[in-house]
Amino acid sequence: MVIFGATGDLMKNKLLPSLLKLYQQKKLGEKFYIVGFARRFFTNEEFRKDMALHLRSINQYHNAWESFKNNLYYQDGDFNDPRGYKELIKNLKLFDKKNKSCITRFIYLATPPNYYEAILENLKKTKLSKGCGDKDDKWTRIIVEKPFGKDLRTAITLDRKLSRLFEEKQIFRVDHYLGKETVQNMVAFRFANGVFEPVWNKNYIDHVQITFAEERGVGNRGQFFDGVGLLRDVGQNHLMQLIAAVAMEMPRSFTKEYLRDERAKVIHAIRPIEEKDVSKFVVAGQYRDYLKEKNIPKDSNTETFVAMKFFIDTERFANVPFYVRAGKKMPKDVVEISIVFIQTCQILFKEYGCPEIGNVLTIRIQPDEGINLRVIAKSPGAKLALGTVDMKFSYQEQFKTRGIEAYEKLLLDIFAGDQMLFNRSDELSSSWEFITKILNGWKDKKAKIVKYIDGTWGPKEAQDLIERDGKKWL
Ligand code: BG6
Repeated sequence: MVIFGATGDLMKNKLLPSLLKLYQQKKLGEKFYIVGFARRFFTNEEFRKDMALHLRSINQYHNAWESFKNNLYYQDGDFNDPRGYKELIKNLKLFDKKNKSCITRFIYLATPPNYYEAILENLKKTKLSKGCGDKDDKWTRIIVEKPFGKDLRTAITLDRKLSRLFEEKQIFRVDHYLGKETVQNMVAFRFANGVFEPVWNKNYIDHVQITFAEERGVGNRGQFFDGVGLLRDVGQNHLMQLIAAVAMEMPRSFTKEYLRDERAKVIHAIRPIEEKDVSKFVVAGQYRDYLKEKNIPKDSNTETFVAMKFFIDTERFANVPFYVRAGKKMPKDVVEISIVFIQTCQILFKEYGCPEIGNVLTIRIQPDEGINLRVIAKSPGAKLALGTVDMKFSYQEQFKTRGIEAYEKLLLDIFAGDQMLFNRSDELSSSWEFITKILNGWKDKKAKIVKYIDGTWGPKEAQDLIERDGKKWL
């Protein structure tokens, strides 16, 4: 596996710990080579030391490291210059020779996205994309991290470039939310339990809310984040996948492309918010101290919070509003989906005090992964009065584990050649189509961004967005 951008955050925080964990669980196979490729000059030994230091600092220093580290190699190179690529090929060929075999290549693009084009160019020029033989080896795999493009046009251009070099079955477009245990469980929960599916539609659901809140700010990622903004950073990808998990139809099976077909169909069915309506249905915010963060221009108009309302034009969800909010510097870390059901309490119990909101099914993606069903119950006592109680399922309590880390799952699927939990290009272009309209509607962004105080649930306008419909953020 060649990892471009191997000195960056993704390698250190996600890829390396996941690879090490898989190694410890003996899931990596007996022989493998991981080659970090980046601009800085390192010998193999120096690279290993640098990675070890980092693992120690995040408390991920497993016993397995001492033997694992011997599988780590390093190649320095400028992403724009074929020299590094050529040296890399020489080393890959040495590995092949040593093992008297043609070793499958995994090429992981973990650099900032502005290098993707140059890397793809050089993969082509140096024939690194072709695998080990003289003839084309179709089984080289290319793994591309988000953000995949900046808007619809650039995403299509990138996709064209990729498909000139690789067949679709070789391309793995990562959205790590697809690898999350709780997101995958949505499919099981919805389609394996006969009890929920009959009410999972417009006849029973009042509205859907999704909250994607992070307590931290942009931290050391200021330079990257400021050029992207929250809508592109998590809206175009992670949020879309959460929406798809709630709203898609049952796939015919887990074989072939059925699951990806259903995801693509439902993302395509999200009703676009036209440019002229953006200010009515989308709120963009920036936390007050954002401009004081490292590497942020003093006049930045980048959004760190987004709230929006939209509809999905499928028979199942016709006219059911979806309210989604996502932001940095929120009061706490929480990612959850709530299905709010239509209230029926008042038919019989009006004068006994129906709670404002009755049945709510909440799927907590993180932290404290689990599912919660709020039901109305009679409060104990001689008098007839009502209250709400929660029926709770917690992964940790029930299974004594929080499940497998998303990147571990995705890496295993990449090795197995299973693309089900990776984005397909039609899924991506539908989500970019939706997002690009909002970006265009924000052309005069300065006028659109509202400040919010760090540690709050975003600007007041986000409350108004839902409250003017007589509903409330939960
Ligand atoms: C990344 C975004 O894709 O997802 C980050 O770039 C965000 O800004 C992160 O913080 C959230 O992922 P997780 O797994 O920590 O919820």
